[in-house]
Amino acid sequence: MKIGIIGNGVVGQAIGAAFAGMGHAVSIYDIDPVKSPANLADVAASDLAFVCVPTPGKGGELDISAVWQAILDLRLSGSNAVIAIKSTVPVGFTDSLPIDDIAFTPEFLSDDTAFDDAARPGPVIVGTRSDRAYSVISAAYAGIGDVMRVAPKEAEIIKLATNTYYAAKVVFHNIVYDLARAHGADYEAIKSVLATDKRIGDSHNVIHHKGYRGYGGKCLPKDAEQFRACLGAAGISSAVIDAVIEYNRRLRDGA
Ligand SMILES: NC(=O)c1ccc[n+]([C@@H]2O[C@H](COP(=O)([O-])OP(=O)(O)OC[C@H]3O[C@@H](n4cnc5c(N)ncnc54)[C@H](O)[C@@H]3O)[C@@H](O)[C@H]2O)c1
Repeated sequence: MKIGIIGNGVVGQAIGAAFAGMGHAVSIYDIDPVKSPANLADVAASDLAFVCVPTPGKGGELDISAVWQAILDLRLSGSNAVIAIKSTVPVGFTDSLPIDDIAFTPEFLSDDTAFDDAARPGPVIVGTRSDRAYSVISAAYAGIGDVMRVAPKEAEIIKLATNTYYAAKVVFHNIVYDLARAHGADYEAIKSVLATDKRIGDSHNVIHHKGYRGYGGKCLPKDAEQFRACLGAAGISSAVIDAVIEYNRRLRDGA
């Protein structure tokens, strides 16, 4: 299959390598000519085009102008490719586009392990209303991931909910650490026992991670803020998420 990718950053490079490794013909276009091995016309001529451009966020506001630009570029070039959005977008964005064969397919890779994560993605969530988009994306992932079909807004919520859950889990383990320390108890002993409970699991429980406490990186802070903003917009209390974000801010500030 011909797979096009717009945005040759962490996500675009990692999924490009994964699809090339599976034998697909991959073209990657980037607005930065130095990072662009292919041109827009190559991507437009693909069966499937992934949008992997940045959506910087601050305080729950996402700048999605690059996503608009990428989709507009594809449409103006007359492309008939199925469009799969990997960039993080607000809930409701994909449904708001007047395009039939489009999907939101969230990516859950980490910067440090991006290539491995993309090559072994686990369940691939395809949020689409289009049978053609579902069948093309399923064919692209055949052999490396089980595909789960949901509606676009469900996929958008899954992306934010997953990363916000991880963020809350990091903060929760830091609270347990603070409690253990206050009592002179050994957090590592507590952590090892908690981790054996399958309902809790052995993840997001490292306290001193890359020299800081709390969650960091590109996705968890941005997605937790975005999740909180979506709750606010829907008139749902964000008190629990507010507390997670505030506790994390204090951890990160060393307060
Ligand atoms: N990095 C991660 O771990 C991760 C994981 C999951 C999802 N995401 C989401 O995926 C998206 C991309 O993230 P990233 O980390 O790969 O970003 P990045 O900054 O590493 O790369 C983005 C690339 O897109 C290019 N670009 C910008 N505007 C463009 C345009 N209009 N046309 C073509 N190229 C353009 C940039 O030059 C850059 O090379 C973001 O929305 C991010 O939130 C990132």
